[in-house]
Amino acid sequence: MKTRSPPPPPSAHRPVLVVGASGQLGTRIVQQLSAARQPTRALARASSRQQHLRLPRVDIVHADLAEPASLDAAVQGAGTVIASASALAPLAGSRFATVDDAGLAALIAACVKHRVERFVLVSVPATPFDAKVPLFAHKRRTEQRLAGSGLPHAVLRFAPFMDTWFALAGLALATRGDAAPLTARPWPFLQRFMGVVGGLAESRGLLIVPGGGDRRHAFIAVDDVARCCIAATRHPAALNATLSVGGPEAPSWHEVADQMAAVLKRPVQVVGTPAAVFALQRLLMRPFSEAAANFMALNGFAAQPRPPESPDAAASLGVPLTRVADFLRAQAARPA
Ligand SMILES: NC(=O)c1ccc[n+]([C@@H]2O[C@H](COP(=O)([O-])OP(=O)(O)OC[C@H]3O[C@@H](n4cnc5c(N)ncnc54)[C@H](OP(=O)(O)O)[C@@H]3O)[C@@H](O)[C@H]2O)c1
Repeated sequence: MKTRSPPPPPSAHRPVLVVGASGQLGTRIVQQLSAARQPTRALARASSRQQHLRLPRVDIVHADLAEPASLDAAVQGAGTVIASASALAPLAGSRFATVDDAGLAALIAACVKHRVERFVLVSVPATPFDAKVPLFAHKRRTEQRLAGSGLPHAVLRFAPFMDTWFALAGLALATRGDAAPLTARPWPFLQRFMGVVGGLAESRGLLIVPGGGDRRHAFIAVDDVARCCIAATRHPAALNATLSVGGPEAPSWHEVADQMAAVLKRPVQVVGTPAAVFALQRLLMRPFSEAAANFMALNGFAAQPRPPESPDAAASLGVPLTRVADFLRAQAARPA
């Protein structure tokens, strides 16, 4: 029987291509790569916000996942690829079918053609509700495509991001200093939602959470997510592995609210929204907007009890994780 030799270690000289570079996570990845003096290609659409990506050793390349022919030049010569792009908060006509499905399929094909050394896919937890959450269903399909592609790869299934979910629950300081927060994306549905809940923790001492105060999540800071993605481009522990990454803790929303209260120096009360409310809204919105229905389905998923991710996967990549209290203190210390 023929034995397969292992792929060569990822080269430090060929650039890392970040797909989804203008997004909240992609921006942090690009910032960290630039600070580490790693040659980087930031893939953005011509229409993307990208001024903040003009950093040392970063080349901005224009391409669009919805236009597969545009991907070839972006991928050619790249050593490794980190794919965080998604149409979950869509701008400029993005849709799950063309971005999360066909777009990432075309990106994987381009990476096979150009012999990319490792493809890191940013993914989501595997849950019993995957079929009801369009984002999750598309991620599962992409994971399967990647596994079948023959490309050396890593799939990182991340727990909810602190920065994003705390801001969605009403804590404005969660995104202080963030060059590209998801909650600021000018998707009209999201901006209407943020117009209602944005900053409620600071202004009225309210935290609006999916499910209730007892729900626990292994919240992970976006900076730590970015570190894990970068580590996964080279670490042997990530090669052809699927890792569930979260933590370091799994606090309940009540515990998170107590820690926010300490930082804001005012009481913070948790207001829960039952899963059934999100299920109904998902059904009502589905005929009009897949992205809005997906947003409700994501909240419905977060409202359900589920086992939190362990911090072991991040440890196996050599990435120390930030505790919620430390994240909140650091955010509060930033200029408003
Ligand atoms: N937030 C969480 O709790 C969580 C948890 C687990 C996993 N994740 C995953 O983390 C990933 C990153 O999230 P994020 O917060 O960075 O999202 P985001 O801020 O919405 O960024 C999405 C990115 O995808 C890009 N994109 C959309 N359509 C595109 C197209 N046609 N061609 C090329 N790029 C396109 C966007 O570019 P434009 O700016 O041009 O639209 C943007 O750069 C997602 O895959 C998400 O599923 C998130």
